[in-house]
Order: sequence, then C-alpha cells, then structure tokens
Amino acid sequence: MMAPPVEFAALVVRWQAAHGRNELPWQNTRDAYRVWLSEIMLQQTQVATVLDYYARFLRRFPDVRGLAAAREDEVLALWSGLGYYSRARNLHRCAQIVVSAHGGEFPRTVPELAALPGIGRSTAGAIAAFCFGARAAILDANVRRVLTRVLGFRADLAEARNERELWRLAENLLPHDDLHASMPRYTQGLMDLGAGICLPKSPSCMLCPLQEACAARRDGNPQDYPVRTRRLKRSAQAWWLLLRQDADCRLWLERRPPTGIWAGLYCPPVYDSRAALDAALPAESRAEDLPAFTHVLTHRDLHLHPVLVQDEQAPADTHCAEGRQAGWFTPEQCRALGLPAPVRRLMDAL
Ligand code: ADE
Ligand code: SF4
Repeated sequence: MMAPPVEFAALVVRWQAAHGRNELPWQNTRDAYRVWLSEIMLQQTQVATVLDYYARFLRRFPDVRGLAAAREDEVLALWSGLGYYSRARNLHRCAQIVVSAHGGEFPRTVPELAALPGIGRSTAGAIAAFCFGARAAILDANVRRVLTRVLGFRADLAEARNERELWRLAENLLPHDDLHASMPRYTQGLMDLGAGICLPKSPSCMLCPLQEACAARRDGNPQDYPVRTRRLKRSAQAWWLLLRQDADCRLWLERRPPTGIWAGLYCPPVYDSRAALDAALPAESRAEDLPAFTHVLTHRDLHLHPVLVQDEQAPADTHCAEGRQAGWFTPEQCRALGLPAPVRRLMDAL
C-alpha cells in the first residue's frame, strides 16, 4: 500500500473550499442539534430528499428540548416518507437523553456521542468534527470508497480487524493544524468527493484533487474498491394489507407493535396470507385486489398485496395512553400520521 502524501489533508481542505458544497442548510453552523439532525437524516437518505424534511423538522422542533418533550407519534409523523423509522425513534430517545443526562447540550467527544442512540462511530466523528473541531475520522460508505481507493486498501472489510485498520489509517490522514477551521472542511471535503467525484461506477479521477496520490487510479482499478466479501443476507416476506374503507372514505388503521417492521407506525391490518385476510372480513364483503408491489427494506423485500374492502360495519376505536391505537381516520387525518411510505402512496392512489 502506498504511503499517503503528507499534504493529503491539505489537498482535501483546499479542494473543498474551492469546489465542495458550502451552502447546505446544515453547514455554516456549529449547533450540534442541527448538525446531528442532518447527519441522522443523511445516513440513509439523499441530500435532495432531506432538504424539505430538515426544514420542516426544524420549524416544528427548533431545539433539542422541544424534540425531547414531543410525543413519539408526532416525531414519526414528521419522519413519514424518509424510511428507516428506527432512526426517528432513536432520534427521539437521543434527544431525551441529551436533555436528561447532559443538561440539553450534546457531549463533545466521540465516545460520549457514540454512546447515544442512533449515533454510530462515523456519525459521532462527523458531529465532533463539524461542531467542535475535534480531530475525529468519519467512515461512511462514501468515505470508505474514497479512502480504500486512495490507499489501495484491498483487505476484506467484512473482517473486523481490517475495518479497524482502515479506521486507524483514516485517523492518520486527519489534519494537524488549525483544527477548528480545517476539521469541518476536511470532513465535508471527503463527503463531497465521495458524493460527487469518487463515484462507485465511474469516478471522475481527472477532476479529483487526490489523483496524484491515488493507488487505485495508478493501477487503473477504482471499481475494485472497497473489498467486502460477506453479502447481506436478504429475505423476502409477503403481506396482505386490508384497506378497509367506510362510506365516508375513512380508512381503518392500527398502530404497529413497538418492535419489528414499521414499529409504532399506523398501518392497515396486515395478514400473512390472503386466506387469513379473508377470514377477518365480515361475511358478504366485496374485496377488490389492488396491484401487488414490492417494498425494499434494509434486510428484506416486502411483497405487498393490498386488498380494498368497502365496509359499513365500523368497529369502535380503541385507545391507549399514547393515543388512538386503532380506528377510522379521514384522508386528512391519515396524512398527519406516521405512515410507512408505501402505505402513504397507496392511500394517495385510492
Ligand atoms: N451526507 C452525510 N453528511 C453529509 C453532509 N454533511 N453533507 C452532505 N451530505 C452528507
Ligand atoms: Fe477516487 Fe479517482 Fe480520486 Fe482515486 S483519483 S480518489 S479513484 S476519484
């Protein structure tokens, strides 16, 4: 593996200032609440999608205390459509811990940040670097690609010790000087290179500030990085969704259990088979099969079979401390709820 040039960090910092993104709404602030929120949203969602959600979320919850005091329902509703809802539940819990255990101020070190729900080592590094100028590395998927290519790091990242070694190398590359200014720029620079230049399929090496230093470019094989043998095991599952509509176009929704797929979100009743769904229907109901489609979750493909039933015999709502557990919701009320994205799209199409 080629030793990186000593000016590696300086190249990234200089390139970021001239060519990086500098007007994103979560930049030009050292407010850890805002940076944290953006980093959680950006973990699995693209910048273009996050922009709207981020603005709306901050309008409703301008600070960590407001978020901590909110009901989970409302947090999930604001998150609705972003997917990966465990992020929203962890976000809420994290805000509560920041208030109860840290006096409403985010801690400033990577180990303390990484101890909070939903904040992994890389997100902790990003927050510490952006807000506090900490000399902390990040290693999300984009940065992992950039660094393995530059370094010619071909060890299998499925092995924990290789992953640890890459973290160590990432830390060696960090700036040494003027950390308060250089760490945010360097961190953003690596993200910007990964998102715009060092792309998975055809990296724009000609535009890259690291081209002289890059082992993969020298060897002509950027596409071979990063190396990771173990593939995520994916599974598939089929669900029949009972879309029960009453005469006023209200829809019957139930709150999902607190764990598992779509935990805590509102959803039409779910059945494992068409027979199970039929058994739950009142006699004589006319069921209409809507087109089935596949929704991709982190670890599985969910094959969804919506079935529409016009229903006049409305069961009564049930309640619990956290609000309505199941009941009839008008289309307007539905839109204000935390709903899984595919359910929201189905309802828009009804
Ligand atoms: N992805 C993760 N963090 C980001 C940031 N600060 N700016 C743009 N994209 C990102
Ligand atoms: Fe990526 Fe090419 Fe830059 Fe190397 S030279 S870091 S492969 S864009």
